[in-house]
Amino acid sequence: MTSEEIRKKFLEFFEKRDHIVVPSASLVPENDPSVLFTTAGMQQFKPYFTAPKEAIKNFGSLNTASIQKCVRTSDIESVGDESHLTFFEMLGNFSFGGYGKKKAIQYGYDFITKEMGLRIDYVSVFKGELDIPADSESEKIWKEVDPNIEIKKAGREDNFWGPTGLEGPCGPTSEIYVNGVEIWNLVFNEYYQNSDKSLKKLETLGIDTGMGLERLAVSVQNKKNIFETDLFEPIISKIREFVSHEISFHAERIVADHIRTAVFMASDGVVPSNTDRGYILRRIIRRMVRYGKQLGISKNNLVSLIDVINKEYGNIYSLIRENKRIIEGGIGDEIDRFEGTLENGLKEFERGADAFTLFTTYGFPLELTLELAKEKNVVIDIEEFNKKLKDHQELSRTSSAGMFKGGLADLESQTIRLHTAHHLLLAALQELFGKDVKQRGSNITQERLRMDFSFPRKLTAEELKKAEDIVNLRINENLKVIRKEMPRVEAESLGAEMEFGAKYPEVVSIYFIEDKDGNIISKEFCGGPHIDQTGELGRFKILKEEAVSAGVRRIKAKLE
Ligand code: SER
Repeated sequence: MTSEEIRKKFLEFFEKRDHIVVPSASLVPENDPSVLFTTAGMQQFKPYFTAPKEAIKNFGSLNTASIQKCVRTSDIESVGDESHLTFFEMLGNFSFGGYGKKKAIQYGYDFITKEMGLRIDYVSVFKGELDIPADSESEKIWKEVDPNIEIKKAGREDNFWGPTGLEGPCGPTSEIYVNGVEIWNLVFNEYYQNSDKSLKKLETLGIDTGMGLERLAVSVQNKKNIFETDLFEPIISKIREFVSHEISFHAERIVADHIRTAVFMASDGVVPSNTDRGYILRRIIRRMVRYGKQLGISKNNLVSLIDVINKEYGNIYSLIRENKRIIEGGIGDEIDRFEGTLENGLKEFERGADAFTLFTTYGFPLELTLELAKEKNVVIDIEEFNKKLKDHQELSRTSSAGMFKGGLADLESQTIRLHTAHHLLLAALQELFGKDVKQRGSNITQERLRMDFSFPRKLTAEELKKAEDIVNLRINENLKVIRKEMPRVEAESLGAEMEFGAKYPEVVSIYFIEDKDGNIISKEFCGGPHIDQTGELGRFKILKEEAVSAGVRRIKAKLE
């Protein structure tokens, strides 16, 4: 049975039993800001457990079923084994007072044994703990459903679920095990957990079930692990096309899992960054690049896996198809950003560089450094990292909020921003006066930039205003700043801007800024660093224009 048939059978099974099929919600939770990603099918239905009438209003039914895109990264380090994933599809049926435990258990049993033709090893029920009573009702129901079934009992740790986020519905669970693996989690939402962790009984018992499609497919398709199911096989085969030496299962699985997760995140609008969900995406892509390097596969190879994912999933999750270009661009750029520094960062690591330097200079997410450290039996001082990061973030925050102007200042982030503004200014001058305008010198302090450039005469006030406007336009367009490392000769042949008389090494970094239509508006040799998006610059203002020598002018400008 293919995974497509499993999905279809699941939804049809519940449709026939008075459930309304609801499409997957976004991976970015809409009604729960306390969680970064959708981790369970019930999340989009959270409000209905306390207000069942709303379900009738919205769905015309108290019962729903869905196949939900989910991301869980807490076990990311286990990905590579037989069963862990960071993205999965969760098959679920839900009820907000439409039915109770008896039907929920019967449905679970029938679907697994009759529709899927699988044998249940055993089931589990809640044994009761502290103030919460045992779920003897579920135990009784299971005995009625199948007198021969083995029933195990466990406490809160294993057989009590939820809530997601800071508060919400939760309750005892009953789990179905097949081939030794927990395949389906039936949650009986009897309680509401408040943000102070106190429980209150819900007026209506809710049903929330979740079954991982990938795990189910392993049993149904009689495979040894998730990567052999039809959900992964095409991605794995493609990866193998690119690898000429002996394959590392561990690495190929990580690449397969992470690219799939990255594509789904990006299709829901997540962009790699240094905070919140953007950081998780960044971490996933960078981890993938590291393992891709171990396999010896290139950026283009990695990006071409997106096509395979499109082919396998595009019909079901149309955003993957519709946003293909954005997804490829976003993931591709992030790969570029990291690929250039990965090798040097690894060398630094070997030399004993600390986690903070690896993070700020080489873009190594802390977790990646920790993983490397574990492999090499090295201890990383996380407290020291956190302290340095906190100081660093405090400086950036105060600077971008415009505090401590000119005093106490965040030297680093202000200088970085002026650096990027410097590139935009040169591009603006070339846009106005042509490519003959060349940089002749530069100097940046935390307060201002100074650029010397070749130009035969004084600029008029209107011309200066125009240059200023162009730079501010580029800032408002929030364009991406992309760094690429390449041989100097290649950069020269691209016509990247270099300062006259300056000496550059054999391998250089070039910073590109692209406009909305994909035209490169700036490409310059530069050691960096730069900000990621021009939108971070604020407002650009030219302070002064003056002569330096015959044919060389100077502009001083600042960011407000
Ligand atoms: N909410 C439960 C889970 O995520 C069942 O759907 O496991």
